[in-house]
Amino acid sequence: MSSPRFLMCPPDYYDVDYVINPWMEGNLHKPSRDRAVEQWQGLFHVLKDHTIVDLIDPQPGLPDLVFTANAGLVLGDTVVLSRFFHKERQGEEPYFKQWFAEQGYTVHELPKDLPFEGAGDALLDREGRWLWAGYGFRSELDSHPYLAKWLDTEVLSLRLMDERFYHLDTCFCPLSGGYLLYYPLAFDAYSNRMIEMRVPESKRIPVGEADAVNFACNAVNFEQTVVMNKASEELKQRLLAVNFHIVETPLTEFLKAGGAAKCLTLRVTEPVRVERHASAAVQARTVRLEGHLLDSGLISRSLDLIVEGGGSFQVLNFHLGEQRQSTSSAEIKVSAPSQDVMEEVMAQLIDLGAVTSPQQEQDVQLEAVAQAGVAPDDFYVTTIYPTEVRIHDQWVRVQGQRMDAAIVVSQDQPTATCKLLRELEPGEQVVIGVEGIRTVRKPEAREQRATQEFSFMGAGVSSERRVELVVEQIAWELRKIRDQGGKVVVVAGPVVIHTGGSEHLTQLIRQGHVQALLGGNAIAVHDIEQALLGTSLGVDMQQGVSVRGGHRHHLKAINTIRRCGSIAQAVKQGVLTSGVFYECVRHGVPFSLAGSIRDDGPLPDTQMDLIAAQAEYAHLIQGADLILMLSSMLHAIGTGNMTPAGVKLVCVDINPAVVTKLSDRGSVESVGVVTDVGLFLSLLVQQLSKLDRPYSIK
Ligand code: ARG
Repeated sequence: MSSPRFLMCPPDYYDVDYVINPWMEGNLHKPSRDRAVEQWQGLFHVLKDHTIVDLIDPQPGLPDLVFTANAGLVLGDTVVLSRFFHKERQGEEPYFKQWFAEQGYTVHELPKDLPFEGAGDALLDREGRWLWAGYGFRSELDSHPYLAKWLDTEVLSLRLMDERFYHLDTCFCPLSGGYLLYYPLAFDAYSNRMIEMRVPESKRIPVGEADAVNFACNAVNFEQTVVMNKASEELKQRLLAVNFHIVETPLTEFLKAGGAAKCLTLRVTEPVRVERHASAAVQARTVRLEGHLLDSGLISRSLDLIVEGGGSFQVLNFHLGEQRQSTSSAEIKVSAPSQDVMEEVMAQLIDLGAVTSPQQEQDVQLEAVAQAGVAPDDFYVTTIYPTEVRIHDQWVRVQGQRMDAAIVVSQDQPTATCKLLRELEPGEQVVIGVEGIRTVRKPEAREQRATQEFSFMGAGVSSERRVELVVEQIAWELRKIRDQGGKVVVVAGPVVIHTGGSEHLTQLIRQGHVQALLGGNAIAVHDIEQALLGTSLGVDMQQGVSVRGGHRHHLKAINTIRRCGSIAQAVKQGVLTSGVFYECVRHGVPFSLAGSIRDDGPLPDTQMDLIAAQAEYAHLIQGADLILMLSSMLHAIGTGNMTPAGVKLVCVDINPAVVTKLSDRGSVESVGVVTDVGLFLSLLVQQLSKLDRPYSIK
């Protein structure tokens, strides 16, 4: 076999003149010229002893030209020229291009604005079976299909995640015999899985961070020799055990620019294997987005999620709505390194309202349930947004919309329904994948899209006045709903009672503002304790002091109700004569108490079968216009999960995290108020009475 040939560039003009990677930070003009020359010579002689080294002329003003790995990617007599991501290095392109042309290579150039940094980001398997290509920092995923086509090879795309390892060759080095020296933490989980699938464990040589930051993976390999800046004793042993011989040659001056042995060389003789075939797993499809794309942030959210999900995009066209109310539309080409990644990205885009372009539309994919209560892998998980699925070329609206469900389709008279996992029956057809699914997100009119989060005593942003403003809005809403015969559901936690909210909540019930009440064992126990004994968890509600023996009060309250048989019975028997639950019984307001592991008693009314409790909740929120969530994280989130878009949610909690969790439905429909719930209720009742007695003075 003839000696391999490498291209190098003497470091006459090498320096750190700008910062385009984390290694260069703080190292402006730090490299010593003399030491750099000496170290470069060191590497040059190691290579020269065993291989042929070609040189390209250095150029003033192009300090990074020494890193010839970034000239392009060579295979046989073909080269794909680099298109540098940073303008600082784009001036190198013509010099490399000229060199390759002079040597008689067939030169391919990528379309403008499609960055690819050559052999820095593309490494041939040493057996020539395929090409590993990196993306994430310098090279664009969409360049990979070009590599596959022009070099007629299979391309495996790897996503880089750690900006210190911004080029594939900084953390990944295929070695002779199918071995692989690499730093696994530089890659995302998906890429690691792919590496593990292609390279058997016995051939993988993972390095730790200490070796990685010494650029141990930035090594030059020919035959059994591996040339690198520095290796730990452990790594040397590990490589020796599989017959590799390490040559260390210090390159610390070049580390200051983020490069080492491999970066300083480009292998220009890469033999072509016959059995190669062009293929890149990179998938592409086009989606359309419509709405207030810019001012609602929808466009940036979509593009971000594509990139965060491991894909890439190209905006094919963007039509910006001109008037304040006009919507914009965009057509986006989404690329992903594989089918799996594409489906994950697409599922999220669908949830944001993206639709497939009409030419690419397909019917939904279905798979039968094989085991009761278990969906097929890859089932589509629903959101709160109205969803449609395409069956026999028709878009069919999904019934019973809620989040975290599967969609069951019945074919003959096409229908589609949300079903919880546990409700799935064998043979039912469940929607899988991402074809033929769209969510309908009506664009919110401009005015309504102000941020709907109010904070009081909480995150410091807001004032008392802002809470008053939002209370005014909610009062207005409640009054309107009552007058129109609508439905308001209250979800409440025990804090409502502790903070003195009880009298206000009872008033809301009395005035017909509450059509159902959802809670747990605790709120009922504390309400009843207060009604029967005047304490809440043993604390006197009037005086605010602990009552002797008070810690047993809540159990006595439970016991009393248990003796009566139920809360309703206790009211009927004249045992319970005041409080929130008393009012519910008197005014025929249905309630549901969902049990939990920590419940004492429990009350006879508490549903300890949680599946039954979820069903009761779901039943009671049906047809709700507004749900008022008062300081109950679990019950509020549980309720939120079963509530479709279109129902107004008001979440009041002293803990901003709970409020945020519920208001990230990202729509005008949810209002979060960070404040004391007792205070909130008192303001609300006050405001409602103002609306009821418009002419009273005060
Ligand atoms: N300063 C150069 C850059 O950031 C270093 C290039 C290193 N080359 C490489 N193949 N990793 O572009």
